[in-house]
Amino acid sequence: MTWTQRLGAEHVRSSYHFNKRIVGSSQTPREGLFMIRALEQWFSAGPTRNFDHGAAAGSNSVMTGTEKVAVITGAGSGIGRHTAFALMREGYAVVLAGRGAERLRRTVEDMKGEKPAARVLAAVTDVTKPASVKALFDRIRGEFGRLDLLFNNAGVFRSGVPLEDVTFEDWNAVIGTNLTGAFLCTQEAFRIMKEQTPCGGRIINNGSVSAYVPRPFSAAYTASKHGITGLTKSTSLDGRPYDIACGQIDIGNAATDATERMKHGVPQANGTIAAEPTIDPADVARAIVYMASLPPDANVQFMTVMATKMPYIGRG
Ligand SMILES: NC(=O)c1ccc[n+]([C@@H]2O[C@H](COP(=O)([O-])OP(=O)(O)OC[C@H]3O[C@@H](n4cnc5c(N)ncnc54)[C@H](OP(=O)(O)O)[C@@H]3O)[C@@H](O)[C@H]2O)c1
Repeated sequence: MTWTQRLGAEHVRSSYHFNKRIVGSSQTPREGLFMIRALEQWFSAGPTRNFDHGAAAGSNSVMTGTEKVAVITGAGSGIGRHTAFALMREGYAVVLAGRGAERLRRTVEDMKGEKPAARVLAAVTDVTKPASVKALFDRIRGEFGRLDLLFNNAGVFRSGVPLEDVTFEDWNAVIGTNLTGAFLCTQEAFRIMKEQTPCGGRIINNGSVSAYVPRPFSAAYTASKHGITGLTKSTSLDGRPYDIACGQIDIGNAATDATERMKHGVPQANGTIAAEPTIDPADVARAIVYMASLPPDANVQFMTVMATKMPYIGRG
């Protein structure tokens, strides 16, 4: 049952009890029944809100009330971009967040090229900055009045540097984006999801196979992704009273700009350099759509989607 159906059912249920009293007190049963029908129609129509399609479209439209609202961080490229398209095809209104305005604008334009009626909004955001994250979620609250799905996807990967040479700045940049950024977005999503009616929602964190096993010379990245696993578990636990589900997708070698070097050769645990197979990010996006599609009482806690023949199982 979608949130609007749940909302409609709740309203119809409560209006039924309310209206039973109206029927009882009205002059004629016919008048009372007419009022019940009118109220049920009004409630089952769901909320209607205005929101725009982002800088690319620049126009206002009316939300149908049947759409779920999703926000994706790092939506201008790679897995985030593929997921934005996949969720749009499932009928979601999608808010695309990221630092690069031009990347976001292009993605919105391409999405609207495929589906002109798509409800998409670009929001330039730096997830490492609390004020920027707050502005993103304030905008979501203002434009849509609710949030059904947060995909914490923004991430940076810096590797190839021996642990003792990782700079303080690089360490902080990786932890700040991959872990603190996800935490800040989760906090803001909680605030909306706890308050909305019906309350609840879903948060999907983008982990990695590095949340379990490191690559050589990847201390900051590996630490950030192990941290994400802790955040996922805490979010699941602390979200439970509010019907906020949280799951984690752990990807191995999806072909994006960030993994371009896999094709040419990357350091292995045994000291060699080897090219590794990659997979289509669209297959990762399909997994995220599946996780998002579950009803509120079901959750994929962890899911690994990886290149079948990558040297992960049996590493070391
Ligand atoms: N590809 C894989 O095989 C793989 C494997 C495991 C995990 N992952 C995870 O998947 C996620 C996406 O990676 P990808 O492969 O799709 O690489 P990508 O194309 O480089 O995507 C990363 C996105 O994060 C955004 N981003 C970076 N810093 C940000 C910040 N401070 N605020 C907001 N957005 C920021 C980037 O956009 P801007 O620069 O415009 O902000 C970019 O769109 C990452 O969390 C990564 O760790 C990927």
